Amino acid sequence: MGFDERYQEGLHIAGLLHDIGKIGVPSEILVKPARLSAGEYALVKEHTEFGYQVLRNVDFPWPVADIARQHHERIDGSGYPLGLKGDQITMEARIVAIADVVESMASHRPYRPGLGIDVALAEIESNIGKLYDIDAASACLRLFRDKGYPLT
Ligand SMILES: [Fe+2]
Repeated sequence: MGFDERYQEGLHIAGLLHDIGKIGVPSEILVKPARLSAGEYALVKEHTEFGYQVLRNVDFPWPVADIARQHHERIDGSGYPLGLKGDQITMEARIVAIADVVESMASHRPYRPGLGIDVALAEIESNIGKLYDIDAASACLRLFRDKGYPLT
C-alpha cells in the first residue's frame, strides 16, 4: 500500500497487541465451544475498550491504543464499540481489521474448525467497501491471491 517501514512497524506491533483486551474477558467465554449468549457477546465486545485502556498509557510512536479500540469498527458503521464509519476509523485500524478477519476465519476456533483462506478472502471480497476499506481489502486480496502470501 506504499507505507514506509516505520508505519509498517507500527502495524506489526498493533497486530500483535490489538486483542490484548481479551485479558479482561473471562476465559471460559473466549474458549466456549458454542454460540455465545447476548450477555456473553457483550462482554467479548468490551475487549476493544479494555485493550484501549491497557495501551493508552504506553508511550508508543504509533496509535496502537486507537487501533486496539477500533479494530472491530466497520466502514458502514455496523461495527463496535462506537459504530464509527469510513474515515472516522484510522487507516491502521481498517488494515488490522481485515488482517484479523482473515486470520480468525481461516484458523481453528474452539467453536468451529478453520474455514480456510479461500472462504476468508471471499468474505473480504464480498464486503469490500461495505465493511472493509477498499484499498486495504484490495491489498489483502492481491497479497494472498497474486503474491502467494502464506498464512502461518
Ligand atoms: Fe478483536
